[in-house]
Amino acid sequence: MKTDPTYLGSVQRVVGARVTVEISAALPSSSPIINGRVHRVGQIGSMVRVPLGFVDVFGIVSMVGAAPIDEDVEEFHAIKGKKTLEVQLMGEVVGTGPFQRGLTTYPTLDDEVHVVTDDDLRRIYTPTGFAPIEIGKHSTSQGLPITIDLDKLVTRHAAIVGSTGSGKSNSVAALLKSLTAGAYPSAQVVVIDPHGEYGQALQGVSKVFRIGDDQTPLVVPYWALSFDELGWFLVDRKTASETPQDSAFRDRIHEVRREAIQTINAGRPELEIFEQEVTADSPLPFSIRQLWYYFDRKERITYNDNTRTTEALEQEGNAELLRPARFTPAGLGSAAPFKPQPPPIMMSYVSRMANRLRDRRFDFMLNPSPYDGTTRDLKDLVADWLDHPKAITVLDLGGVPAEVTDLVVGVVTRILFEVMSWGRDLKGIGRQRPLLIVFEEAHQYLPGGDNRFIQGYARRAVQRIFKEGRKYGVGGIVVSQRPSDLDETILSQCGTFISLRLTNSTDQGRIRATVPDEVSGLIDLLPTLRTGEALVSGEAIQIPSRTVVDLVDPRPKSDDPSISETWARPREDAADYAAAIASWRKQSPVDGEA
Ligand SMILES: Nc1ncnc2c1ncn2[C@@H]1O[C@H](COP(=O)(O)OP(=O)(O)OP(=O)(O)O)[C@@H](O)[C@H]1O
Ligand SMILES: [Mg+2]
Repeated sequence: MKTDPTYLGSVQRVVGARVTVEISAALPSSSPIINGRVHRVGQIGSMVRVPLGFVDVFGIVSMVGAAPIDEDVEEFHAIKGKKTLEVQLMGEVVGTGPFQRGLTTYPTLDDEVHVVTDDDLRRIYTPTGFAPIEIGKHSTSQGLPITIDLDKLVTRHAAIVGSTGSGKSNSVAALLKSLTAGAYPSAQVVVIDPHGEYGQALQGVSKVFRIGDDQTPLVVPYWALSFDELGWFLVDRKTASETPQDSAFRDRIHEVRREAIQTINAGRPELEIFEQEVTADSPLPFSIRQLWYYFDRKERITYNDNTRTTEALEQEGNAELLRPARFTPAGLGSAAPFKPQPPPIMMSYVSRMANRLRDRRFDFMLNPSPYDGTTRDLKDLVADWLDHPKAITVLDLGGVPAEVTDLVVGVVTRILFEVMSWGRDLKGIGRQRPLLIVFEEAHQYLPGGDNRFIQGYARRAVQRIFKEGRKYGVGGIVVSQRPSDLDETILSQCGTFISLRLTNSTDQGRIRATVPDEVSGLIDLLPTLRTGEALVSGEAIQIPSRTVVDLVDPRPKSDDPSISETWARPREDAADYAAAIASWRKQSPVDGEA
């Protein structure tokens, strides 16, 4: 056997799944030629094979070195020059069967270790028992496609990390292009795209929503916000305590939302919402300008009489034009007209609301026509986002003011998640048609720790997806150049890591701490990866692999729902968003048409 051209050395030490291999002194060169191809021995990240009778155990080289020289050892020369490899064992092949993760048989002292040939690699990488999508080629064995398990990728979530320019966005595009290549006609992906990067790269396979676009404008209606979100956005309310102003604000929003159910209910009787089901948080439409006018009028009102029954009104204003009503100014002392009793308290809220309403940058939220709740409701918004012939929806946040990115990502994510969870078993939604959401530049709006400048709306919404999304058929991928800045809960829920070149040691440390033990030895590779080269590891891949990601052109269940199965089925006619939205508003499941 030792004349076998693949023979590399022998096992010297076994600690759990870590093996120290002594490289044979008889090895003719560090680059043996096997089957006409040069193999380089001792490349970090390369693989070795340990044949154990009927079983072949495979492992990855994580360290190369010479044996330590101990001064006290007399036979100095015997040790000097011993070259060793540290190998992390990953899995095994029994007979001619498929590669399996984990070990049933462990090597022991003096077992032979061999170089892995292309044939071995093909055995390992032949996808068996899962729905593969290709993301690139093996780094050291060009031409060998690297495929990942679509179901695990989506249901167990993933992270794509790497320093700026390392090829993250290209990796996202490559993954999505591979997904839309034909096998999954019902695939459904939403890309949160803060920099408007994907419209071009995903041309033909995506529908892009952009603020101010004539055809497909990005609109996030204010009336879909919860009371807390509205309070922060409109009047800079701090959530810690509830002032009398907050109570008045909450009561009025609750009231106008209750009024909205008359128009909303003019549809299917079985989806009817009842007054007692409405809260200040219900995503029911109301007029924000009327809300402003209501409070503004209360601030200005005066009365002709002491009993305060006849208003001293000179002229009604116009809510739509933000024009206040005019009243005769109050008299001095006890002279008419009279101010209301008790005196109004909402002036600061009224003026902050007016400021927001006048700020054109927020038109995509505050002027959400045609999504006024009557002409077009939330179900139409969600249908526009998701129910189109393209597999991918790009939400281009390019024009979103930075101070509301957190809020906008939070609201968009929450809308999608609520629809998917309340509609989990309805036609065309939830487990019937799973959804993958990609969060680009995630460190911007998903920071860990206490960040004074971020309210955490996005973080809370995205955490729910990473913690519970699996049950409702929602998966997430976070993409970031600063994994150390990312929220820990979200990162720790990622089952698959696509790690590109990562130069910063804090970021490397974060990834090392997050990936499983058997991969952490390979993290030292990260700073040396080429652009577009990634260490792919985790649940969606058989074995951690150095992968060259394809360069795209143009650039730029409590049991699991089966992503690949549902996505591979022909599309349903129309998804029942009306039932999902009604379900969300009622906060209870309703029977749809399915
Ligand atoms: N697989 C690849 N093969 C060859 N070149 C690549 C590959 N991936 C990326 N590149 C090159 O690197 C450039 C930067 O890639 P990309 O925009 O994907 O980086 P990024 O990690 O998203 O950076 P940022 O953090 O700044 O967004 C690309 O324009 C492309 O030229
Ligand atoms: Mg990028």
